[in-house]
Amino acid sequence: MAKKRQNDGNIDEQYYQISPEILSSFPKYHPPVDLFSFREDIAVLAPYCRKGQRLNNDQVKELADLCANDSLFVARSDHHIYSKHIVKQLDLVLQDDHLTDAEIVDICIRALLLRLREFFDQPVKNMFEALYKDAMVVTEYIWEDKHRINTFVRRLFHKDELARHALNTMIVGLRIWMYSTAEYRRKELDRITLALLLHDIGMSKVPAFLLKKAGPLRMDEREKILPHALLGAKMMQKIDVRFDELVHACFQHHERMDGSGYPQHSKDLQISRVGRLTAVADSFSAMICERPWRKPKEIITACKELLDDYQRYDQEMASTLMGVFATGNLGQMIDMDAIVDTKESEE
Ligand SMILES: [Fe+2]
Ligand SMILES: [Fe+2]
Repeated sequence: MAKKRQNDGNIDEQYYQISPEILSSFPKYHPPVDLFSFREDIAVLAPYCRKGQRLNNDQVKELADLCANDSLFVARSDHHIYSKHIVKQLDLVLQDDHLTDAEIVDICIRALLLRLREFFDQPVKNMFEALYKDAMVVTEYIWEDKHRINTFVRRLFHKDELARHALNTMIVGLRIWMYSTAEYRRKELDRITLALLLHDIGMSKVPAFLLKKAGPLRMDEREKILPHALLGAKMMQKIDVRFDELVHACFQHHERMDGSGYPQHSKDLQISRVGRLTAVADSFSAMICERPWRKPKEIITACKELLDDYQRYDQEMASTLMGVFATGNLGQMIDMDAIVDTKESEE
């Protein structure tokens, strides 16, 4: 039913239908977007109300009826308002079958970015719960079709920000994990996703001036950063969130296969699989991001350096990572920084 008008001219390209769930999430008397109703008699979309216009009770009822009859539409030119609305209520994204995969993934990434920033600012239980809820929407979307992770992989960040780094690490880490694990349950997918997202939660306690410093860190400054691995696991425990994947991601992502990492100088298989995975995904994410003192590395250069560094990085993980980008099957990369920055300047 929802797709019944797909072939009617180019309506589907310029407008999409609003589902009752989404309509009911709008402020009842002030819909934030222009709405259009489908006129069966002349088979065209006619403007119903303008964004922000005050509706009366009869109009509210009429809108609900139009919507229930698949006759209520929003213009794609209002997509930025619509997506901003859904970013804050991400569970709606999966109920909307009029969005393309690319639109859904953009919205998912922006929603997680928002939640991560809030949680890194205030690492307390209710902020975690908001992040958890949205992360579960994302895993549900990926669980339904594992190839959807590739739409995420095309959307990496290159700007230096803790939340963007966390997202890159999640996306790349998940891609490696999903394609190198024969079978997994939904619960494992959920846990790995959270573990990758939160591997650097301890960094939220590191003074901001050290993170923003315009040059490589001195020895004494570096020492202030080292405890973030242990601190991360402790912070999550403090808000009653503790499971092995998360502890391993936080605690082991700076361990290296030859024992040269920290905090425990663990070696080879002393480092858990999640720890080895997070190390590769985390280092890759750091390499492709610009730092105040250096430009971002090309994606393929970063993959190659990790693969060449076989003494320190798990080679199965590094070669899976190389396979993601080297085959040329991935398609064009999207500048996710530009998308996020444009949306934020509109808000
Ligand atoms: Fe770290
Ligand atoms: Fe990291």
